[in-house]
Amino acid sequence: MPVEVDRREAAAAAPDVVVAGLFEGEGKDPAFPAGSAPDDAATGGLLRPAWQRGEVRGRRGEVTVFHRPDGRGRWMTVGLGPRARLSNEGIRGAAAQAIRAVRGKGARSLGFRFASFVTERTPAADAARALVDGAVLGGYEFLRYRTTADPGVEEVTLFLGAEHAADERRLAAEVKEERFVAENVVWTREIGNLPADTATPQRLAEIARELGKEVGLKVTVFDEEALARMGCGGLLAVGGGSIHPPRMIVLEYPGGRQRGRTVAVVGKGITFDSGGISIKPAAKMSDMKFDKSGAVAVLGILRAAARLKVPPRVIGVLCCAENLPSGSSYRPGDVVRTYSGRTIEVLNTDAEGRVVLADGLGYVSKEYRPDAIVDLATLTGAQVVALGDDTAGLVANDDRLAADLLAASAATGEPLWRMPLTDYHRELVKSDLADVRNSTEIPVAGMLTAAAFLESFVGPGIRWAHLDIAGPGWTSKLTRRYQPAYQNLGATGFGVRTLLHYLRQPAE
Ligand code: BES
Ligand code: MN
Ligand code: ZN
Repeated sequence: MPVEVDRREAAAAAPDVVVAGLFEGEGKDPAFPAGSAPDDAATGGLLRPAWQRGEVRGRRGEVTVFHRPDGRGRWMTVGLGPRARLSNEGIRGAAAQAIRAVRGKGARSLGFRFASFVTERTPAADAARALVDGAVLGGYEFLRYRTTADPGVEEVTLFLGAEHAADERRLAAEVKEERFVAENVVWTREIGNLPADTATPQRLAEIARELGKEVGLKVTVFDEEALARMGCGGLLAVGGGSIHPPRMIVLEYPGGRQRGRTVAVVGKGITFDSGGISIKPAAKMSDMKFDKSGAVAVLGILRAAARLKVPPRVIGVLCCAENLPSGSSYRPGDVVRTYSGRTIEVLNTDAEGRVVLADGLGYVSKEYRPDAIVDLATLTGAQVVALGDDTAGLVANDDRLAADLLAASAATGEPLWRMPLTDYHRELVKSDLADVRNSTEIPVAGMLTAAAFLESFVGPGIRWAHLDIAGPGWTSKLTRRYQPAYQNLGATGFGVRTLLHYLRQPAE
């Protein structure tokens, strides 16, 4: 979606809808906010009386539409809460609410009255980026299978007005860059939302190859024969029950200013998780097309890393397989030998994510000896129980890497929470028969026993972080109600903005 800056006042340009932020008054008899005087003027004096009678109050999430008496379009106020408490995340949410409020209502162009979002805590560059995120992410809907669809807003403008016109060039650059980042998340969501009959491991490999040509990445696809030669028994076991054979997909971005440093990003790419022989109940099983969210995020991360030329070399690894029950499925009781030689006792075929990641982590550790590995995976229901649908679980073997990821998460608004990993968890995944087992005897700390399992496949001395995105990877009709307005129904592309932010930081 085109997002531009324009030095004019919004009222002069008159797009279909103008959106202005409105702050909540403080105190008992809150005065009309001084900063909203231009909005009162632009609405022909409609806003002030609406404020005075208590119809609009600037509370977070409040959206009010005014039809200008001169007939020149609509003016919308979005509540931002108290001025002193506005954050970038608050602006992202407000921008998304605005764009969603006019969906299906005949608005093609939408403009923000930029000055109304700029505060001490959200200076111009931050406010511009947050408006772009909110508008692009909040305006997105998965329309591929809709034969009738409202096109929605097609053009967004930040009207700088007299206050910020002098900053036009700098703000235009910020907007251009953030627009790319947000549209990259949209690109990721489009793939994440594809159903399992379409987004097979083979199709993901084709998408990776096309991407490699488009942005200049080296792409290597290991098919089932290559995987067998390499000893990737985890991918072969999990994918064994499907007619769509497994793939390990490796993308390489050579690096910019810091070619000497290598970061690997590894994603769980289960294109559908039925549970396999340890089959899941029917309710909500359709959501398991999103079990590829980690791998799809890796595609989005590599795409943007190449385009934005991040400093380090980045290796992306997608561990793709479909987990189905059939006569050729792997079964509880099987022992699987993985790429590194480490063996897994399979106790539950529904704990398949860790089994495919074992190959990916072992492979990238040995072949690339990266300085850091970050994996992303919709790994456990226990993550959702512990942290909810909004916050991903972070487990790391290195405090510095964890701190860097938490800092990136704070900047992007994708919440992460670090969880502990101890010998208790490591003990729980030891097997009597093999090196590790893929599920535990007692049902405790499921997110962390899964992490302990993964950790054992990371090469010695390599810094590693694991993001369990089972909750935040997608939203359903029910869970979306409690999420920020820029998280649309379906795949969220969670992790892409945070990892990108992390990769863009110049490292020590
Ligand atoms: N893909 C699921 C995890 C999941 C479940 C994500 C629900 C989002 C929503 C994963 O493969 C899985 O089935 N994990 C099991 C592990 C257990 C069998 C040890 C789980 O969490 O129940
Ligand atoms: Mn599973
Ligand atoms: Zn799964």
